[in-house]
Amino acid sequence: MRSKVTVIGAGNVGATTALRISQLGYTDVVLVDVVEDLPQGKSLDMLEAGPVLGTDSNITGSNGYEESADSDVVVITAGIARRPGMSRDDLLLTNMKITSSVTEQVVKYSPNCIIIAVTNPLDAMVQNVFETSGFPRNRVFGMAGILDTARFRTFIAQELDVSVEDVQALVLGGHGDDMVPLVRYTSVGGIPLSELMAEEKVEELVRRTRGGGGEIVALLKEGSAFYAPSAAITQMVEAVLLDKKRILPCCAYLEGEFGINGLCVGVPVKLGAGGMEKIMEIALTEDERLALGHSAASVQELVEVMKKAKAEG
Ligand code: NAI
Ligand code: 2OP
Repeated sequence: MRSKVTVIGAGNVGATTALRISQLGYTDVVLVDVVEDLPQGKSLDMLEAGPVLGTDSNITGSNGYEESADSDVVVITAGIARRPGMSRDDLLLTNMKITSSVTEQVVKYSPNCIIIAVTNPLDAMVQNVFETSGFPRNRVFGMAGILDTARFRTFIAQELDVSVEDVQALVLGGHGDDMVPLVRYTSVGGIPLSELMAEEKVEELVRRTRGGGGEIVALLKEGSAFYAPSAAITQMVEAVLLDKKRILPCCAYLEGEFGINGLCVGVPVKLGAGGMEKIMEIALTEDERLALGHSAASVQELVEVMKKAKAEG
């Protein structure tokens, strides 16, 4: 039987993700959105690309959740996106309400699925989806680290005039301006980055990576990035569906790992059929640990704001 992936939110990220996943060719896709006819129209358009591309994946659009029943993986992109002048955190309470109601439906119709949350502010939304779902932590995690890492890898490859394929990097922490690109774990064809680039240049690329989302928002003006994000989500979905055991940076609920307890933050994990199968607790220097702690504290602040809003009803 073919697997089934549901993507909630048929906007820029959701629709592009649905297209990429359908083009894998081995899984069916359901696209859900509250806007009448939008997911139906986009999914029909994608379906009609099948004969040209040679894929038999079925794609269904819906304004409800019946069609999504018994999904293997559900990707949540529903919510509002950043506009120029807005930070990811400005989206907090609106997207908290949206992701809470979406998660309730997902749990009702696909009680055994794996959820990949994407809506911003990412780490706080993963925490909200995790807590609302009641699922174990291996079945709820979020996408950000692969995107942030991909940006860092792109900038390094451009600077050194080498293939992006040979650049390995790792970005930890929350998906905010205080994310933690780990230069010590960054290499090019196995050569440590510090051997290939002056420290000031590395710092410049780290700064650009931290502001990578904002750089795209400033250019697009009407929304935020979606081509690279959808590629990152697809890599995660494929790691789960094909049980690939990929080691990728994802936002996961920590239970004491890295000295952080009860909070969703970006760390390296193993992704396979069981979802987030393992947190790879790598050794950090004192400075790296402090930077991760600082980033986690920013996420904690948002979680407290959500708690207060929920308590006030
Ligand atoms: P978009 O505005 O193009 O699409 C959002 C869609 O969600 C809209 O079609 C809207 O109708 C739908 N929606 C709203 N409420 C809904 C509900 N209750 N149920 C179902 N659908 C609902 O925004 P875009 O660009 O697709 O971004 C989506 C989210 O993903 C944003 O919060 C954005 O900040 C976030 N994002 C996160 C990234 C990450 O690295 N984690 C990367 C890129 C975007
Ligand atoms: C990004 O980093 C908007 O969070 C999104 O592009």
